[in-house]
Amino acid sequence: PETGCLSIIVLGASGDLAKKKTFPALFHLYCQGFLPPDEVHIFGYARTKISDDDLRNRIRGYLVNDRSASPSEDVSKFLQLIQYVSGSYDGAQGFQLLDKEITKHEISKSSQEGSSQRLFYLALPPSVYPSVCRMIRKYCMNKSDLGGWTRIVVEKPFGKDLDSAEQLSSQIGELFDEPQIYRIDHYLGKELVQNLLVLRFANRFFLPLWNRDNIDNVQIVFREDFGTEGRGGYFDEYGIIRDIIQNHLLQVLCLVAMEKPVSLKPEHIRDEKVKVLQSVIPIKDEEVVLGQYEGYRDDPTVPNHSNTPTFATVILRIHNERWEGVPFILKAGKALNSRKAEIRVQFKDVPGDIFKCQKQGRNEFVIRLQPSEAMYMKLTVKQPGLEMSTVQSELDLSYRQRYQGVTIPEAYERLILDTIRGDQQHFVRRDELKAAWEIFTPLLHRIDNGEMKPIPYRTGSRGPAEADELSAKAGYVQTHGYIWIPPTL
Ligand code: BG6
Repeated sequence: PETGCLSIIVLGASGDLAKKKTFPALFHLYCQGFLPPDEVHIFGYARTKISDDDLRNRIRGYLVNDRSASPSEDVSKFLQLIQYVSGSYDGAQGFQLLDKEITKHEISKSSQEGSSQRLFYLALPPSVYPSVCRMIRKYCMNKSDLGGWTRIVVEKPFGKDLDSAEQLSSQIGELFDEPQIYRIDHYLGKELVQNLLVLRFANRFFLPLWNRDNIDNVQIVFREDFGTEGRGGYFDEYGIIRDIIQNHLLQVLCLVAMEKPVSLKPEHIRDEKVKVLQSVIPIKDEEVVLGQYEGYRDDPTVPNHSNTPTFATVILRIHNERWEGVPFILKAGKALNSRKAEIRVQFKDVPGDIFKCQKQGRNEFVIRLQPSEAMYMKLTVKQPGLEMSTVQSELDLSYRQRYQGVTIPEAYERLILDTIRGDQQHFVRRDELKAAWEIFTPLLHRIDNGEMKPIPYRTGSRGPAEADELSAKAGYVQTHGYIWIPPTL
């Protein structure tokens, strides 16, 4: 890593994202020695007029470090790195002041040979991205005589459809070059999502099987067992497709389906992801099931007649040599019966099966992203004992058991470290974002116009029965009577 003075500026410092995700991630990085106090300074910026200590007190409660021997000491030291500056998101004054404060620290800390590195984390609603970016560009860029860089980190929602996303991209693109822009999709920071590349391309096992000849269908599933509590207002504007499927699940799909990249260079990987997205053919209405949980509209911030889906199953089809005919079933829902995210790769039946009368389950390769990270292969084995009967079992790599004592980093922690190191591999490139919106925009417009309606489902259920019927129609075969039990230590 370069030496110099690193300033991390969290804009929207008193908001929810900053408190719950950004500052805790920075704290964890600090505790692991990635933010040395003699080089790093953290600034919080927001409109509210509060003091440094007020900000520190607001975030203190979110900073937990169960890995540390002296947690409260760490918290206090970390909080001392944070300084607060208040100002508006579109006025020169606040940003001039911010620049003055950053420069002060650069002069006092980095001294002679150090460069000036400025990381702006926009924990803000996208409506203010353009004005904030303009202000940063005008008043807060790193001092070029010192060398270094300026980077900005932004988070979804990047627009609401293709046009609005492109508009936002060009507004930001006029001010910053692509290598300066880090679009976070925090699913790309999850351990098992990052593992997909290794799994697929470093193992001979998978190479010959990973295609339409062997795989019958792929499911990428996100479930939450709680509703939109407290964020109904935001959610109703967007719905489950924009909140989860168009970004998180689609990014996972790219990594499952893409061809082998030329190398591990971020641009090579992202080139392959874009190709997959561009190969997705238009979604058919009959391959979509939408749902809305009963009680969703009771939230006072949700309109009484809201047509917003809180659940969706959407089948994507990739028109290329590897995947022609293989449905990718993307499913996401709020207020369901469980909380988990997983990828299920289901293989075709064994040809000429001689055990058929005993009704085998299909081979399935499951990647459990959360909770209880694991990979397991469902397979058929002989039931141990005297009889020649068969039973469903699994080869199981459960992380907690296999990697005891290893702490899996939080997604945000890892991604922020990447932004400091200048590694864009796990960030969404502009053309990727565009291709992602191209896939979903026609469907989203039909939903927004009320041409497609969500089916009501009970809170705590599996979602609408129609969704299971759609998956079955697409070829997914549930293995009855088999339940994977994560091993205990
Ligand atoms: C966010 C969505 O991007 O991801 C939330 O806006 C969702 O609605 C969250 O709850 C889920 O993230 P995770 O990491 O808990 O699966």
